[in-house]
Amino acid sequence: MRLVRMFSARLILTVLSLGYLSTFSQTRTETELTENWKFRRGNSENAYKKDFDDSKWQTVNVPHDWAIAGPFDKEIDKQVVAITQNSETKPTEKTGRTGSLPYIGEAWYLTKFRVPATKQNQKVLLVFDGAMSEAQVFINGQQVGHNNYGYSYFFFDITSKVTAGEFNSLAVKLSNRPKSSRWYPGAGLYRNVHLIVKDENSIEQWGVSVTTPLVTGQLAKINVKTRFSGKGLRLITTLFDNSGNKVTADTSVASFGNEFDQNLAVSMPHRWSPETPYLYTAVTELYQGNQLKDVTKTKFGIREISYKPGTGFRLNGVTRKFKGVCLHHDLGPLGTAINVAALKRQLLILKDMGCDAIRSSHNMPSPEQLELCDELGFMFLAESFDEWAKPKVENGYHLFFDSDAEKDVVNLVRATRNHPCIVMWSAGNEVPDQFGAEGVKRAKWLQEIFHREDPTRPVTVGMDQVKATMQSGFGALLDVPGLNYRTHLYEDAYKAFPQGFILGSETASTVSSRGVYKFPVVFAKDKQYDDLQCSSYDMECCNWSNLPDDDFVLQDDKSWVIGEFVWTGFDYLGEPTPYDDYWPSRSSYFGICDLAGLPKDRYYLYRSRWNKESPTLHLLPHWNWQGREGQTTPVFVYTSYNSAELFLNGKSLGVQKKNNSSPQNRYRLMWMDVKYEPGTLKVVAYDSTGKAAAEEKIVTAGKPYRIVLEADRKTINADGKDLSFVTVSVVDKNGNRCPTADQYLKFSVTGPGKYLAACNGDATSLVPFNASGMKLFSGKLVVLLESTKQAGAMKLSVSGSSLKSSSLTISSK
Ligand code: GAL
Repeated sequence: MRLVRMFSARLILTVLSLGYLSTFSQTRTETELTENWKFRRGNSENAYKKDFDDSKWQTVNVPHDWAIAGPFDKEIDKQVVAITQNSETKPTEKTGRTGSLPYIGEAWYLTKFRVPATKQNQKVLLVFDGAMSEAQVFINGQQVGHNNYGYSYFFFDITSKVTAGEFNSLAVKLSNRPKSSRWYPGAGLYRNVHLIVKDENSIEQWGVSVTTPLVTGQLAKINVKTRFSGKGLRLITTLFDNSGNKVTADTSVASFGNEFDQNLAVSMPHRWSPETPYLYTAVTELYQGNQLKDVTKTKFGIREISYKPGTGFRLNGVTRKFKGVCLHHDLGPLGTAINVAALKRQLLILKDMGCDAIRSSHNMPSPEQLELCDELGFMFLAESFDEWAKPKVENGYHLFFDSDAEKDVVNLVRATRNHPCIVMWSAGNEVPDQFGAEGVKRAKWLQEIFHREDPTRPVTVGMDQVKATMQSGFGALLDVPGLNYRTHLYEDAYKAFPQGFILGSETASTVSSRGVYKFPVVFAKDKQYDDLQCSSYDMECCNWSNLPDDDFVLQDDKSWVIGEFVWTGFDYLGEPTPYDDYWPSRSSYFGICDLAGLPKDRYYLYRSRWNKESPTLHLLPHWNWQGREGQTTPVFVYTSYNSAELFLNGKSLGVQKKNNSSPQNRYRLMWMDVKYEPGTLKVVAYDSTGKAAAEEKIVTAGKPYRIVLEADRKTINADGKDLSFVTVSVVDKNGNRCPTADQYLKFSVTGPGKYLAACNGDATSLVPFNASGMKLFSGKLVVLLESTKQAGAMKLSVSGSSLKSSSLTISSK
């Protein structure tokens, strides 16, 4: 067990100076139940009972994904279906649709916890950030409740079931059905479980709501609503700036029912934005007489959002367009088990691309991801469902929609509403309910639940049936009409819908495999190759989707388009389009980065538009084309500069300038007729005055000679959770990267630390992520090292036959 959400040192000092240390310890404790869980797959009849003997069960830490270790198996969740969302009409055999990992079936998680015997009138809550799925929760042998949707937040008041001063047993049964998802959903207690012990006179779970109804450069009005249980209580709310200095405070005695409603003024507020992610903290203290009964701490940001015709989306009074990506919840080789280091790495990679927004497709985000987005500066579109009452998959959310949808939305909003990063809710993604009058009613009903729970943010739905939603009124009733793809219908939708703006809620769905290039280089839809890879010339997409450049045109030319969320930032497990019918494809090709988090070429195309801080100059393909001598091998440059000159072995191949002759010519520099010869390919970019501003080159590499290791972080925390991601590549004798190397490498770790997993980004690899060796894919792979609780230096060694091995030391503190 680990105590979390402790007050910062400075806040504790503030508490001390207010002279209530003695009572402080009497208030709530919040514990993450992370260690010493017992786990078993399958149904275990008596596992819920208090004294069940679990001594032979596996010991695991939570968050935990029981399926990620594999093995991959073609038969898992094999489906003979027509994916109607992909315009298919005939059923075919689909393998890999949910990742081919063993997520289906039942499993139990058991643990024990104590609640203090000393406290009088305590209230005990058990809070889940998500549990995959159909959770049934038992305390000391008695069921306390259940929750169906694997992504939703939920909690139970277990006060009457626990015995103070003794160990209490907690058992969670989870069941995952086949054909219940369109991607890898993961399996297990993959998010945190919290035990909260507090006084019965206390602030309600998710009971604090902080909003900023008035924001100017000089003044902000901070509204804090606090719901509580108990009588004769007094509330003190104190605001602190991001250095822990007190800004202001307010005391309330009179409540409105069981809610305090306070307004506090902050002068000269620091406004939150992706560029200035400034956070304040509201500390709310509940007193009965002089006795402190409860304290909570809420981080919040001061920011103003508006969505209006003419000015589009505005943050703090400034119109901007979302430079966003959609993300599924899996973390590649880690599966779905939440890990802060892995989430942070993803966000830092996206930040460097210039991305400023995330859409949690197609479900509730984790609290950890939202906290990171608050801190690092990303706007967030928090989604809820991929299905309403009409099915996409046989056992999808439609089974629970009628009974659970309201509760699931309420919990999402209440659990996450104080995050300044969230600037919009999404009630659904491409729900089949877009057709028909019932669907319109459902859209209205859901949107009103969001509005009731949070009047400050608008609601969207990602719509793919744009024509149907234009006719039925579905699109017109939404706060923000979101279009998925359908670039050809943006104009019509803008004219038909009353809102005065359109959001690209899902864009592009271009497919590529990192470092793989196919010839001839031509635009193609649903293109398939024998090796089950896609070309990284970024000219291939699906029959419903498009190339990035088509979105760029809309974003740049239509003032009423308020931004885009690209499908997707990272590859994810499952949905291996365009190889849905081909084994062994088991993960996506849509990512701007691959499953290991390594940028594909497309990363630099987006970076060249989105990152305004540092220039981009990127050359593709690689230049190791033995056997293609004399053949046409086009060269593309993704750059923030307007023009550039290409040189092959010192000879100029001419200057290219971005121009409006086609979307590709507008955003890429392309030399289509280059004849391959080995050597050095160099690009020189010119600034607006025609002066050479930057250059890049690629050299034909010789034989792989030496292994190279590069860590994203060389020092990590000795907390048993932190990770270092080590990129492994090989170079020739002269230090040139070998872009096609595919050697099998072995990994070993000594010292205090653990080898956790590896991933090479190959969507067809069936090697389990935790295997102790793996082949390079397009010359690279990533090894994940985990700290233990013991500080020290761990050493990773990587070797491969006829290669000079390498080692790297990572320290943990
Ligand atoms: C969209 C859908 C996504 C994903 C994507 C692939 O229609 O919303 O979940 O399936 O297509 O292009």
